Amino acid sequence: MAAQALSAETNESAFVDACALADVDDAAARHRGLEVNVGGVSLSFYRARDGTVTCVETACPHAGHRLCDGYAADPGDIEDLLPGTGVLATCPAHSYVYDTKSGVCLASFGAGAGRCVVRATRIDDDRVLVSAEASPETPPLALPKERSNAIGMRCVELALDEKFGSA
Ligand code: FES
Repeated sequence: MAAQALSAETNESAFVDACALADVDDAAARHRGLEVNVGGVSLSFYRARDGTVTCVETACPHAGHRLCDGYAADPGDIEDLLPGTGVLATCPAHSYVYDTKSGVCLASFGAGAGRCVVRATRIDDDRVLVSAEASPETPPLALPKERSNAIGMRCVELALDEKFGSA
């Protein structure tokens, strides 16, 4: 059943119909996020290989560029460095890397890294529903700089491989 109406949650937040799951999959096949305007806010939807759908507000917290246009790395591609993330969104402007599950900036090559605004998602048959409200922030992540750099480099390498092919 494709839910069009608001549905009450135990935390009083509401989920709204956002897009077709197939459209998120199409974007994921290109290693990108799917941009959808929901209630006047641009959101980016991502799907991992395990089927999980995550969503963040599209504007990069660093300087507002569109996260959906950057390379989206599957969590499985970096789980040796940091397990348990969602899809990793690499901003196309300055290559900061964000976990679309927690919103945390996992790698930044300069100052001013912020945190993405995360929205909870649900899959209802062939539709994706999204929370009308931002998710609460998760606790800060104490990631060693070497690990952060390795995650950033991995995502850049994956993006370059996608664009130019492996050497
Ligand atoms: S605007 Fe996204 S990393 Fe700078």
